[in-house]
Amino acid sequence: MNINDVSAQLEEIKSELVIFPSRNGLKITAYLDFPQGRKESLGYVVMAPKYGETKKNNLQLAYYLAANGLAVLRFDHTNHVGESEGEMLRYTLPGAVEDILGAFDYLEQQRGIKHAGLVASSLAARMAIRAASMDIRISHLTCLVGVVNIQRTLATVYQEDVVSNYLDGKRWGVNDVLGFEIDFENFASAMIDSNLYSLSSTCDDLTLIRVPVSLLAAQNDAWVDIEEVKHAISFTKKGHFHHIQDAMHEVRENPEAVQKTFQQLVAICVGHAVGGDVLSDRIVAPGKKNLIQQNKAERERLRRANPVQQNEIDFWSQYLSKYKYFQSVDVYQNYINLVGELLGGFRAGELVLDAGCGNGMFGAWAIRHLLARGQVRFDAPVIYSGLDLTHDGIFDAAQKHESLVKSISQSANPSEAGINFIYGRMDFDHLGGPTDATNEPVIHFADNTFDKICCSLLISYLKNPTELVRHLHRVLRPGGTLVLSSMKPFCDLSEMYRVYAEKHLSGKSEQEIESGRNLLTAAGKIKFKEELGVYTFFSSEELNDMLVDCGFKKLQTFSSFGNQANVVRAEK
Ligand SMILES: C[S@@+](CC[C@H](N)C(=O)[O-])C[C@H]1O[C@@H](n2cnc3c(N)ncnc32)[C@H](O)[C@@H]1O
Repeated sequence: MNINDVSAQLEEIKSELVIFPSRNGLKITAYLDFPQGRKESLGYVVMAPKYGETKKNNLQLAYYLAANGLAVLRFDHTNHVGESEGEMLRYTLPGAVEDILGAFDYLEQQRGIKHAGLVASSLAARMAIRAASMDIRISHLTCLVGVVNIQRTLATVYQEDVVSNYLDGKRWGVNDVLGFEIDFENFASAMIDSNLYSLSSTCDDLTLIRVPVSLLAAQNDAWVDIEEVKHAISFTKKGHFHHIQDAMHEVRENPEAVQKTFQQLVAICVGHAVGGDVLSDRIVAPGKKNLIQQNKAERERLRRANPVQQNEIDFWSQYLSKYKYFQSVDVYQNYINLVGELLGGFRAGELVLDAGCGNGMFGAWAIRHLLARGQVRFDAPVIYSGLDLTHDGIFDAAQKHESLVKSISQSANPSEAGINFIYGRMDFDHLGGPTDATNEPVIHFADNTFDKICCSLLISYLKNPTELVRHLHRVLRPGGTLVLSSMKPFCDLSEMYRVYAEKHLSGKSEQEIESGRNLLTAAGKIKFKEELGVYTFFSSEELNDMLVDCGFKKLQTFSSFGNQANVVRAEK
């Protein structure tokens, strides 16, 4: 069979749930995706998940591969998030290599498949390189944004040479690694004992691989140095380096780049399967409906397997204590400036709602803006209402606003500075209905109350975002302005963190470095909750549809926050 037979007949892809043992003795849960109705596939590909992600995150690429005739086995690592056995606390890199080899054992023993390709991305790519150096059943290896120098990547993430410090006797115990609690001693010792951390060990492993290796590296990858990837590929016998333009470590953050990259990657894999070159433009995309249905089914399973333990108030209180470090990040400041500018300057006596105010970043912008321009008459201050789920956030916001007013205007009285503040605790998941566990009364605003509403990075975290948007429309006065935003689907905050770390952390105290790491940890936790379907990041089309459905008009869409957030300005 060749690629021409395949791309001509786009058909439904089936996913079969399979369970098999890893070489470490724990059960692996996986999906086998294959084009339905086909007597034989072009070949098999195994896909390993990224650190902190599950097989569901490989679904889209797996369906791309399957739509072009390949069968794909994508699994969850053991001792990791997802459905396989074991606890994340026990996660190690050699354990992840054992899982990959277990997947090849399964294909051989249960399906009679003697050879298959291997696809892995990010950190998992390093373990895939190790596996391919050990196992001749791996017939080709393709790594997307693969980490080739774990020591360096960890040092970039942690602003500390973790490996050297471990070798010098430093110990961390249980630690939060990008949102997940890990026994760091166990992790570090296993990584060092198995020599998986250095660039030279990657090059040594690549030297042993006799089959084709393709390394695809992203132009703006904050975690992986492209020059090191080029260096590594020079150690392969049959290696190819591919440059992905306009992409970050999370390639899916850029929809154009991801489509090209998936086509290129699938063309590489299909080419190996059919034994010839395949052009990217021959690659077909999987059916959207098919993909959405499977994504939904897997999300449900994942949610059942990983119930969210912490309540939302505790989660957000902890998050906000870390989130305040964003204040000093330029891209965040630019984002808040944009939100403020889109709402327009304030007029005397205007009522402004900050829904999900967090620790009051937008309120702080409003104070600076008002005091810098001296726009407001003192006898008619702007009334700012900040509402949030957490007491901690509101408390922080109130303190921040008070001290800012004092420091800028030398007055302790905010209304003399042109603005008055009202804060309230409110759960936007219980609008109008019974309140949450704290049993506080619901705050009810009359129709057409506010002149301006800021709803910044809130709706992604609500169970029924449309319900809130409808309420915002009700309480906004006719002609009033709303600015609403969401992080983009598959957003990537790594570049922002890298810039922040370079600017603020080098040479700083242990405590400051810790606070910077916390930022990333917090982002990792949110990302996982998004994968579970607890949170949803919206595309600009989805935001627009929601706003129009709720009655908003004159929509304008913007991209901000280092291009990672969608911002919409709308009027009633
Ligand atoms: C990412 S922060 C954004 C904070 C702020 N708007 C900003 O842009 O800096 C998300 C905020 O939404 C709040 N939040 C989450 N779920 C909520 C709910 N059900 N009701 C009210 N606020 C909620 C959190 O407490 C947190 O302050």
